Amino acid sequence: MDNFVLTWLGHSCFRIDVAGTMVLIDPFITGNPSAKVKADELYPDIIAVTHGHNDHLGDTVEIAKRTGCTVVCIHELSKYLKSKDAKTEGMNIGGTVKIGDLSFTMTDARHSSSIDEAGREIDGGRAAGFIIKAGERSVYHAGDTGLFGDMELISRLYSPDVAILPIGGRYTMGPEDAALAVEMLRPKTVVPMHYNTFGVISQDPQVFAGYVKTVSDADVIIMEIDCPVFL
Ligand code: NI
Ligand code: MN
Repeated sequence: MDNFVLTWLGHSCFRIDVAGTMVLIDPFITGNPSAKVKADELYPDIIAVTHGHNDHLGDTVEIAKRTGCTVVCIHELSKYLKSKDAKTEGMNIGGTVKIGDLSFTMTDARHSSSIDEAGREIDGGRAAGFIIKAGERSVYHAGDTGLFGDMELISRLYSPDVAILPIGGRYTMGPEDAALAVEMLRPKTVVPMHYNTFGVISQDPQVFAGYVKTVSDADVIIMEIDCPVFL
């Protein structure tokens, strides 16, 4: 059984080290007020991008070009990144891409996904989430999303051990909706993200943990930036 080492780099950016592979999800580092690392210190094997918004796409182009890593993302975003000379694996919701010992399954998310290139709006396809699987272990990174009932299906299909969920409100679910998501997803471990990076998404993660306790036995891990957790 492969153990995941999960590290929060801030906002929705996580590093997963598993089976000798380093995965970065939503590498928004430059301009991220909560990030402590520098983008050029990161050498991932794979980047997974949930959608085109700047606070998720972030430093993807720079990191991908410098390291030659593979970027897993939705078709439209993949076309954009290819045009910037990144190596990509385009996919779409419901599909799975296998890279080495890992698999990336793209899930639905209720959100938008435009790419902002110097004030020019580019179609980024749709917003998505990922189920990342290694052996029997799986992590669900929900991306940016509102609550949706098909999280029941995500539970039935993929039984994620770990669910990483946005709780910031305004642009995504807030703490109460995210607790309902936990009830539907039935993970063993829950990690909140996408809060307190900016004033408009201020939340107390302990309040979220309290809501979760009323509907689920899942452990809520309130992560510290750059402090790895073994799962
Ligand atoms: Ni977004
Ligand atoms: Mn966002």
